[in-house]
Amino acid sequence: DFDAFDISEELGFLLEEPLTTLPDYYRVWMDLANNLTHLIESRKLRDLVHKMPVLSPHFLSGHRELRLAHLALGFISMGYVWQEGQHAPAQILPKTLALPYWQISHRLGLPPILTYADSVLANWKLRNPTGDMEIGNMDLIFSFPGGESCRGFFIVSLLVEMAASSGIMGTLEVMHAMKVSDLVGMQKGLIKVTQSLKKMKETFILMHKHVDPTAFHGTLRIFVSGWRDNPMLPRGLLYEGVSNEPILLSGGSAAQSSAIQCFDALLCIQHEAETGAFLTRMRDYMLPAHRQLIEMLSARPLLRHFILSCSSSDLCQAYNSCISALVELRSYHLNTVTKYITVPGNRALNMGCPLRGVGTALNTTGTGGSSLMVFLKNVRNTTQKALILER
Ligand code: HEM
Ligand code: ALA
Repeated sequence: DFDAFDISEELGFLLEEPLTTLPDYYRVWMDLANNLTHLIESRKLRDLVHKMPVLSPHFLSGHRELRLAHLALGFISMGYVWQEGQHAPAQILPKTLALPYWQISHRLGLPPILTYADSVLANWKLRNPTGDMEIGNMDLIFSFPGGESCRGFFIVSLLVEMAASSGIMGTLEVMHAMKVSDLVGMQKGLIKVTQSLKKMKETFILMHKHVDPTAFHGTLRIFVSGWRDNPMLPRGLLYEGVSNEPILLSGGSAAQSSAIQCFDALLCIQHEAETGAFLTRMRDYMLPAHRQLIEMLSARPLLRHFILSCSSSDLCQAYNSCISALVELRSYHLNTVTKYITVPGNRALNMGCPLRGVGTALNTTGTGGSSLMVFLKNVRNTTQKALILER
């Protein structure tokens, strides 16, 4: 099961042991990506991108080299588009970037924009390779401006994602037990999912220690912004040498994480209307193997029907505990969004329009493009409504 869906027991959806170097032929890409923060801040990146040769992706081999190349080109592209801030985004991605990025994306089944699968799942390394995966021993492979807040934002997201791995295992156990009508096995699996959701929320708390709201909102956030549902680039971005029309693609967002969508699928939480459509669209930004796991979990037999018809109160309780833990995680996430987006956004508005940073356009829109507060409250409320009331 694990192999087919490209997941690991300990790391869940994270890429195991990401590579940090590419064959020497790709040195230009790696030099830019490795110095990205400096090149953006000194506004040299765009010129250097124009001077790059158009490299062929044919010397890349294996999944991990492709992931590193996709990650590097993603960071360079975001830096290229947003180097001059929100008022002067690039409208065209030059062929030197666009063509190889397009080809590599096609091979991976990912879109040609920086995704959660790049910036979080594949963007990590250990400071001491024999040490643990804890925040003090972890670094990003590539960074945007924002210093420790940039590292904190991506690494804490990674640690929350890692805390979901036992819940993914629990999810597979529930599905397996349901097939053979093993009620005790189902209950055990659900308890595992609940514990994992609680651990995710505990881990989320690290955000407050490592990410500063002003740095996140004013410096980092624009670099994960995309070119769909974004008033700064309403028509999208033209990929030179690839297409004659601009292309619309959403920015990076943890809404592209497969973990929570797996839990929703397991628990049969169905988000409706625009909210559901947005979450389904975010699956286009996941790796195909991970998307397939969500699809497999959404197919019949459905856990909720099983529980409603078997009238085991233990099982019903285990299901409800999962729902409650997921509601609590989503409520906590909502509070975090208020602190990191709404509050600094209002402050920036009151101080007048800042030159850099995202003052107005993204105050009510997520980097993924949702109308964030409405969307997140809908998601939380639909989760709450899935509770099975005692008869
Ligand atoms: C969605 C912000 C951290 C999981 C969203 C959205 C925003 C947002 C604005 C709406 C979608 C969009 O348009 O982008 C933030 C901020 C964070 C943060 C400001 C930290 C400073 C995290 C972390 C996780 C996470 C660590 C890890 C699980 C999700 C999920 C969604 C989402 C799963 C989709 C909605 C749902 O299923 O509940 N986030 N997020 N977020 N975020 Fe976060
Ligand atoms: N999705 C997060 C935001 O909108 C990163 O800021």
